[in-house]
Amino acid sequence: MAKIAIVTGASGGIGRVFTDRISAMEDIDEIWAVGRNSEKLEALRSVYPKVVPVSADLSDGKCEPLPNMLKSNSPDVRILINNAGVGYMEAFDKMPAEHILRVCNINCTAPALIMSEVLPYMNEGSRVINISSASSFQPNPYLAMYSASKVFLKNLSRAVNRELKSRGITVTCVCPGWVDTGMLPKEVKGRKINFVGMIKPERVADKALKDSAKGKDMSVPGLFSKYFRIYSKVTPTRIIMDLWVAIIGKYV
Ligand SMILES: NC(=O)c1ccc[n+]([C@@H]2O[C@H](COP(=O)([O-])OP(=O)(O)OC[C@H]3O[C@@H](n4cnc5c(N)ncnc54)[C@H](OP(=O)(O)O)[C@@H]3O)[C@@H](O)[C@H]2O)c1
Repeated sequence: MAKIAIVTGASGGIGRVFTDRISAMEDIDEIWAVGRNSEKLEALRSVYPKVVPVSADLSDGKCEPLPNMLKSNSPDVRILINNAGVGYMEAFDKMPAEHILRVCNINCTAPALIMSEVLPYMNEGSRVINISSASSFQPNPYLAMYSASKVFLKNLSRAVNRELKSRGITVTCVCPGWVDTGMLPKEVKGRKINFVGMIKPERVADKALKDSAKGKDMSVPGLFSKYFRIYSKVTPTRIIMDLWVAIIGKYV
């Protein structure tokens, strides 16, 4: 039975680093790499021969080809990484319905559905890694949908991790602060954005894999997000939100 890993959003940013690291794992035969852009996925396969491109757009909350692929291959899924995600920095009262739906579907529905479809193919020692965000530590005005979606993924991950204890399967929720990937705009309205405490995607993926191997249910990479997690627990939410608006409001 083939031992496989599944990575959504595998062709760019943090997902690509996960693909790189997993391709070096001797106990993984194939990496099912999910992304919208088949050319990017083919390019990924030319670098990492274990990659099996899975061309899918998660904007309707589903990874269309996955259920059939699972059924026809009956694989032993050792690692699932729900990494694909989107965010829009904009005022909620100006946010188009399409953006609201995309955030809910890509950041919440898709990882929940994929996890439920994959779990029957996981065994003792298998692991799920869900990429949430430090945005889940407190509500973020002007990133309201994104921050709410990442709370959903965090609470889902931690609760399911507890449920799966008896099966020996771990679910690790990853909460990075700013990460240097294509997701972040370099400037908005001609203003260069200063992303405090920004870290490289390699640091996020390496720590997530290490924490998941240790069976941890949370992985918080970088000093900034570690500090922010504690700060969010001890500081009244309205103060944090006022500070956030003072920092981010000028870009919106
Ligand atoms: N960058 C940050 O500061 C930061 C901070 C905290 C958490 N995160 C989280 O980290 C995760 C990865 O983000 P990143 O920073 O690596 O972003 P990225 O460089 O923009 O990569 C996002 C990946 O998601 C895929 N994707 C986007 N929309 C998709 C869709 N509709 N269907 C299928 N795949 C889709 C993209 O693949 P295709 O374009 O090929 O489809 C791409 O590979 C996200 O969940 C994000 O919320 C990021």
